[in-house]
Amino acid sequence: MEEERLVISTRSETEDLAENILRPKSMDGFIGQEKVKDNIAISVAAANMRKDAMDHVLLYGPAGLGKTTLAHIIANELGSSLKITSGPAIERAGDLAAILTNLNERDVLFIDEIHRLNHNVEEILYPAMEDFTLDFIIGKGPSAKNVQLPLPKFTLIGATTRAGMLSTPLRDRFGVICRLETYSVPELKEIVVRAAEMLETKIEDEAATEVAKRSRGTPRIANRLLRRVRDYAVVKGHKAVLLSDAKSALSMMEIDELGLDSIDVKLLRALAEKFGGNPTGLDTLAASINEDAGTIEDVYEPYLLQLGFIARTPRGRVILKKGYEHIGLTAPAGKGQISMFDDKNEND
Ligand SMILES: Nc1ncnc2c1ncn2[C@@H]1O[C@H](COP(=O)(O)OP(=O)(O)OP(=O)(O)O)[C@@H](O)[C@H]1O
Ligand SMILES: [Mg+2]
Repeated sequence: MEEERLVISTRSETEDLAENILRPKSMDGFIGQEKVKDNIAISVAAANMRKDAMDHVLLYGPAGLGKTTLAHIIANELGSSLKITSGPAIERAGDLAAILTNLNERDVLFIDEIHRLNHNVEEILYPAMEDFTLDFIIGKGPSAKNVQLPLPKFTLIGATTRAGMLSTPLRDRFGVICRLETYSVPELKEIVVRAAEMLETKIEDEAATEVAKRSRGTPRIANRLLRRVRDYAVVKGHKAVLLSDAKSALSMMEIDELGLDSIDVKLLRALAEKFGGNPTGLDTLAASINEDAGTIEDVYEPYLLQLGFIARTPRGRVILKKGYEHIGLTAPAGKGQISMFDDKNEND
């Protein structure tokens, strides 16, 4: 079995079911992201008043911040049904045409990982989103005919972790574009407390805060850590999760007080010790700690960057002063900062 990674923000298959249970069903239960919620609430209300389909919505941001959850909530608030698919699942233009013609008025179609749609499929989507028509060509050569079929008025919700990979024509067809941000510790604490209620688990306030602090700003990780500390408390025979349970369980899992795990620490140590604080290319770094470069870039680096522990420079990754301190080292003279040289070349 593959080793379980607790602080990785991407979802695992076995977790999907547990995740569905904890998903808030209404906007009220969805904590944080106030700007996004306001924005969506207005479009939902307008659509409901007009008895019309809502504008198409693009949700983007790192894994585990609530994109799928929001899609469910939007469909709920519209009183519509939600059809779920994903970019890689739609292989041919015909597959998407079939999905679209099976929609009812005001249905919500959720396309996860929408940046992974292939080009032929994407072209079907343009007129469908803009004019609610299906445009296609029958036949080949001189006898080819352009056919247009009307579609029901539907709402497309696209989700992506990589907004930069979306083509401009596709992005331009979304009326509402929302960027999800990482959550604050108080918000995560609220999420933990709410999830504990749903799991019928009692948790001390300080224990909930402890879990929140170590969740890397990500509700998915918060929920996962909650389940683990709950199990620990149960085994210890406690009626509620105590602060001491949270602390012991989390350190047993090698998750430190900032939510870093052994891979993060290995990465920081490699930069400090193996590479002596010098800028190091992603691939070299990945090979040295035996990790996948893509995983480092998508999962580990964002949080280390956010903490100010490392920096990305044109010559590679460098560990910063705070990163040295976190692993109990002092930055040698001239290291632990971004040099003038790197700054000047930031845009090369
Ligand atoms: N704002 C929130 N309030 C309460 N719970 C949340 C919130 N956002 C996310 N969650 C919880 O976190 C879990 C992960 O959220 P979700 O599946 O929506 O993430 P996602 O952005 O779709 O991730 P991915 O990019 O991997 O698909 C869900 O189980 C949900 O319960
Ligand atoms: Mg999702």
